[in-house]
Amino acid sequence: MPRSGTSRRDFLQRAATTTAALSLGSIGSLGRLRAQVGAPAAAPASPLERRRFGRTDMEVALLGFGGAEIGFERADATTVAKLLNGALDAGLNVVDTAECYVESEALIGAAIGHRRKEFFLFTKCGHFVEGGGGGADWSKAALLRSIERSLERLKTDAVDLVQLHSCSLEELRKGDCIEALEEARKQGKTRFIGYSGDSAAARHAIECGRFDALQTSINLCDQESIDLLLPLAAEKGIGVIAKRPIANAVWRHDAAPSNGYHLEYWKRLQELRYEFASGEARKREDADGPAGVAMRFTAMQQGVDVVIVGTTKPDRWKQNAELLKAGPLPTALADSIRARWKAVAKSDWSGQT
Ligand SMILES: NC(=O)c1ccc[n+]([C@@H]2O[C@H](COP(=O)([O-])OP(=O)(O)OC[C@H]3O[C@@H](n4cnc5c(N)ncnc54)[C@H](OP(=O)(O)O)[C@@H]3O)[C@@H](O)[C@H]2O)c1
Repeated sequence: MPRSGTSRRDFLQRAATTTAALSLGSIGSLGRLRAQVGAPAAAPASPLERRRFGRTDMEVALLGFGGAEIGFERADATTVAKLLNGALDAGLNVVDTAECYVESEALIGAAIGHRRKEFFLFTKCGHFVEGGGGGADWSKAALLRSIERSLERLKTDAVDLVQLHSCSLEELRKGDCIEALEEARKQGKTRFIGYSGDSAAARHAIECGRFDALQTSINLCDQESIDLLLPLAAEKGIGVIAKRPIANAVWRHDAAPSNGYHLEYWKRLQELRYEFASGEARKREDADGPAGVAMRFTAMQQGVDVVIVGTTKPDRWKQNAELLKAGPLPTALADSIRARWKAVAKSDWSGQT
């Protein structure tokens, strides 16, 4: 199994193996469950590559939608409706959100709740919506209540995936939070369950064998997961969602960004000094410019099924889909990004939640 990049051929082989395995039995029951909850019966036409999401029955378009930005940036309902309906028309089929992304779930429910059968819907629980994610409660009862609230806001009877929203390794080991998700799946509120997070906790989530999916940070400025998590996730048939896949586009800032959430990646980029993300090259908007290279780098990593770029801009999804159509980076460039990381990354450059 390769340690870093994967080719389209590797991917196709993996997809074929997974499809064969599913056809031996599990797809029958998954198909029935899907019919019950009304997830997409057939993939709409899309110019984008589709990937089998781990061992599940979901065929996901490579570019998904990350719902944090619309919440935290307080996007208005009209903008979100335009953005999401336009993206669905163009081939989007994965929408990711969380209870704590302020109004994100409600905005998504209002914008595309009526098109629920056309996309896979992923959410997360554990952090409260009040105050934009201030508190957390990992008890079974609180998580089950949180999932109910999400379904109401999202205007659906069931989601395709509920993820624990970056709880600690200690909470995972206690196990109550995992039981809550298993209970929600039993009740038909979600078809699959996952963990969203990084580093040792994410590794434990894969190893424990109870999750169908992992959402983790993978990008130019955050490469810990590439060796630590991705090979094992692929081996175990876990669907992988790459969060923060464009490294928050931190090359846009000439000076340290005021948004603390972007700061760590900006600082790392100053040390990584990738040519394609420095100086004048930062202005390029084609597939070989920083945004194109960043997304293509993330999308080509072994086992990555979907990259969920966040945005508040109505045309961004289509622009990014166009950039991704250029396919994996040339091997020399991909290898140089990995080599640079290995040479420069400090021991505390761990996966950023
Ligand atoms: N712990 C967790 O579970 C966790 C943590 C973080 C994120 N997430 C998930 O991952 C998703 C993505 O993460 P994220 O939104 O933080 O990071 P991201 O997708 O790496 O970055 C989003 C930023 O990139 C900009 N951008 C997008 N396309 C661009 C392009 N072509 N050129 C220049 N700038 C571009 C967007 O600005 P514009 O508005 O200008 O497009 C936005 O500010 C979230 O929405 C969320 O669903 C989960």
